[in-house]
Amino acid sequence: MKKITIGFDVYGTLVDPLEMSQYLHTLIGEKSKPFAEIWRQKQLEYTFRRGLMSRYQDFDVCTQQAMQYTMEYMDISFSSADKNDLLKLYTTLQPFSDVVPALKALKQSNYTLVAFSNGVQSTLKTLLSNANLLDYLEDIVSVDALQTFKPNPIIYKTLATQTGVELTDCWVVSSNPFDVIGGTSAGLNAAWIQRDANNIFDPWEYKPDITVKDLIEFAARLQ
Ligand code: LAC
Repeated sequence: MKKITIGFDVYGTLVDPLEMSQYLHTLIGEKSKPFAEIWRQKQLEYTFRRGLMSRYQDFDVCTQQAMQYTMEYMDISFSSADKNDLLKLYTTLQPFSDVVPALKALKQSNYTLVAFSNGVQSTLKTLLSNANLLDYLEDIVSVDALQTFKPNPIIYKTLATQTGVELTDCWVVSSNPFDVIGGTSAGLNAAWIQRDANNIFDPWEYKPDITVKDLIEFAARLQ
């Protein structure tokens, strides 16, 4: 069988950053959900801005600075210990329920599965180990070595070169529309995981090659 690489986005696709609202709940009650959402949006905004400005600071820094912004925006103050605990908990996010069965099926079918993320290599290793996903993944392709962020096309091309395949033999699988668009625009195949039917895909000229409701459906479509 021809080698095909599947690069799985991590935050939002394999694990859910909004799960942080559970931990935030004990600290700030009903404000936990908006906090987690603003935190995540700001984290991504910081990656986009740092990428455009060529002022790279890694994803852990973006996460920490976005948390600080969200605290100030919502007029909430956490102790240093709480902040450290929250950032530590960010490495214990658990996989969505469809992830393990899908990775198992795809691995059995001899696809080359890798994590493909804005995250820091060492942090991703800890996160994916805590989530019990490392056994399914052959590699972790992190933007960290390139010192920029998705959706810079160089990141997507590196997914193909680092795993030794042509762009056309490479899939980006992501719940994040900007990531799917980044993949198709760079010449890869891309699948959009639309876990929530209310999620909207950006009305740009780049469309996903396939749209599925979860990774199990993605695995079934590829078999
Ligand atoms: C990632 C971000 C996009 O894991 O969530 O790359």
